[in-house]
Parts: sequence; structure tokens; C-alpha cells
Amino acid sequence: MTSVFFAPSGPLRGEVVAPPDKSISHRAAILGAMSAEPVRISNYLRAEDTLSTLEAIRAVGALVEERADDVVVVRGTGLREAREAGGPIDVGNAGTLMRLLPGWLAAQDGRIFVLDGDSSIRRRPVDRIAAPLALMGAQIEAKEDRFPPFVVYGTRLRAIAYDMPVASAQVKSCVLFAGVCADGTTSVVEPAASRDHTERMLAGAGVRVQRDGLTVSVTCTDELDAESIVVPGDLSSAAFMIAAGVLVKGSRLLVRGVGVNWTRTGFLRILERMGAIVLGDLEEPSAAVARSEPISDLDVKAGPLRATVVEAEEVPLAIDELPLVALLGCFAEGETIVRGAQELRVKESDRIAGVVEGLRGLGAQIEATDDGFVVTGTGELRGGTIDARGDHRMAMLGAVAGLASREGVNVIGMDAAAVSYPGFERDLARLA
Ligand code: S3P
Repeated sequence: MTSVFFAPSGPLRGEVVAPPDKSISHRAAILGAMSAEPVRISNYLRAEDTLSTLEAIRAVGALVEERADDVVVVRGTGLREAREAGGPIDVGNAGTLMRLLPGWLAAQDGRIFVLDGDSSIRRRPVDRIAAPLALMGAQIEAKEDRFPPFVVYGTRLRAIAYDMPVASAQVKSCVLFAGVCADGTTSVVEPAASRDHTERMLAGAGVRVQRDGLTVSVTCTDELDAESIVVPGDLSSAAFMIAAGVLVKGSRLLVRGVGVNWTRTGFLRILERMGAIVLGDLEEPSAAVARSEPISDLDVKAGPLRATVVEAEEVPLAIDELPLVALLGCFAEGETIVRGAQELRVKESDRIAGVVEGLRGLGAQIEATDDGFVVTGTGELRGGTIDARGDHRMAMLGAVAGLASREGVNVIGMDAAAVSYPGFERDLARLA
């Protein structure tokens, strides 16, 4: 485990290219594995999480060619021809892989798959995907019916109409991947809109995908027709650069090539309410299912902030950026409140406890609630030491806090950033 000290920074200047999107890379690799024809994925994220996905799809029969130019070509098995892996499929730290892949594997009639991962994965619930897959006819086993290792007995699936108890794009995507292989039309009702990359990618691969309010449905098919997928930059990774640019006085920077699908840009709308200046060509919310992913450069300028309130319906649209909202709240005038975000407790770490205890250790006035936190802005942060708790986003949060702090921040476990953003320290140093 590495400790890295992030000193208070002078103005950040220049340009940075956002790393490839993690969510979309996972989905593209799985979709490639489900296809019978080769799928060419450009700008694939080469980080620990998404390399786990390439290994996982190899284990079930896909051929994966990784080219030097970040192009990955996947030669899949087709929808119903995945083969049994020789042993447990190791998802590493990747919750998205753990939740999405079983949707497809559950449709592999007569084959059995075991999925397992690191100590963080073993604490993250899988009953949320076990429930709909069981309704579709698959037999599922999990530790205490709730945690990995997760065993999937594939079968011929039947279509279902599923009312999701949690707003989770991972659960929705699992059911949609299963639905593509099931008999009939499968629909999912979300409690609130969540990222829709799976819907867009399936529609782009010729699947009949429909949306009606918070209900999305897919009709089964025999074959996917994806051919090529371009992965945009990851807003959730770019968010750390954006927050640093907003917080460090005198900063002005350009983040290039960021995916601005409206189901991902909740953080930018929160920033706008806080008075931050981040300009870009953002996608407008829309009821229809798009087939592609919009991309924009984002122009970021430091400036004064005011507090804001984030309510439950906004949470899925900014879920991975909420720790940064807490940090921004420390520098904003007034009380910043996040509610309805209990899902943060089951991320790579308990991000409510980690953010509250971590930022408080740096001098923040912040209180935890069951489903979020309340931050009283003081306009500054002293600094100190923060433990990443093995969580990539907590590590990067600590780094940004250091740059914006009075005394700097020592981040214990900075190496966790490699899960989603291996070049993070290099990119940050270049801007500073
Ligand atoms: C993801 C969805 C979110 C997010 C995770 C990636 C995805 O999880 O926190 O980092 O790729 O679908 P939930 O959908 O479970 O909230």
C-alpha cells in the first residue's frame, strides 16, 4: 500500500484527456462476448477493473485481442454459447462486472458459473441481482443468500416484468442482458432514472429497446449486431480534475473528450447550482432511448461556491461523484446536504462513513446521516491524513482535498486509484 502526500497547489492550468469510461468499457466487453461476430472497441479502459472483465469473458470462451492503441477486439461466443470457466471467475474489485455478467451467464442452459472477487467484493450484496434472475428461472446460490461467491446455474430464461427496489444501473443492466436471451419481452421499472449505457449499446446492436417513463424493456433476439463501439471519456474520473479546477484558486483547465450522456451529468448540474463555472456541450435529458454516447470538452474555472441540497432522485445520476460533493461543500457558503444516498454504504467501501470520517480528519465540519451527509462550509480545509480504505474514489478524493487544503493531505493507499484511473497522479501533476 502506498502513501502519497498531495501538497497545497497553485493554480491548475492546461488540458487533460479524460480516461476511457469504466461503465461503458465493462458493457462493451460483455456485449462483445455475447456477439457471434467480432466487436471492435476503441478507447477501451485499461485499468484494473476493466482488465478483470477481459479476463472474465476470456474465461467463458471469448477471444480477446488487446492492441497497443487501446483498441480491443472481442470475438464472442454468441448469445447462448458461453462455455463453463475452468474454475471461479475472478471479478477482482469490480462490482459492475459482478452484477452485469451473471445476467448473460444465467441464460447459458445447463452450464454452471461461480463468480468471486476481492475482500471488498465479498462484502457487496448480490441478492439484488439474484432476485430477478431467480424470477427468470435461473438457480442462484450466494453466501448467506446475499454475498459472493455467487453461483449461477444457467437455464432457458423466461421474460419478466421487474420492479426494482433500488435505483441501480447495475441491476437494471443485469436484467436487460438476461432479457435479451429470455423468451419474450423483459421490462424493468426503476425507482429513479439511472445511467442508460446498456440500453444505448443494446439498441445500437439491433435489439428492440423501449422506454416509457421509468420502464425500460428489451425483446429477446438470436444475434447481436454491434461491430464497433467507441468508449467516451469517463465523467466520473474527470470529476476529480473538475473538482480540483473548481477548488484551487486561480485555476482554469480544459478536460477533453468527456462522455456527457445526461444520465451521468448529475454532478455537473449540482456544480452549476453551487455556482461553479464548468462549460460544455451537455446532452439534454430525454425520454427516448439514444443509440450513441455524446462527448464534449469541459472548460473549468475556479470560483466561489454556495451550498446545495441533493435529493434522492438526483442521486443515481451523480452516485460516484457524491464524495466530491461533500468536499466541495467544505468550501461552499452554507450547509450542503445529500439525502437518499444509502447506496453509498455498499460501494467499494462504505462511502458515507469513509467520506465523513475522512474529511472530518482533515478539518471538515461534516455529519453522517443514515442516507447521506450534512456539510457546513467553512471556506477552507486544514489537511492531514486520509485512508482510502482500498477504494479508488476515496483515494482520488483525498488527493484533490490535498491540492485545495491549507497544509496538504497524505493519502494512505493511493494505489487504489489504478482500479479506474491508472494515470491519475500523472495527469494531476501535469495540471498542477
Ligand atoms: C455503475 C453503476 C453504479 C455506480 C458504479 C457503476 C454501472 O452502481 O456506482 O460505479 O456501471 O452500472 P449502481 O448502479 O449499483 O448504483
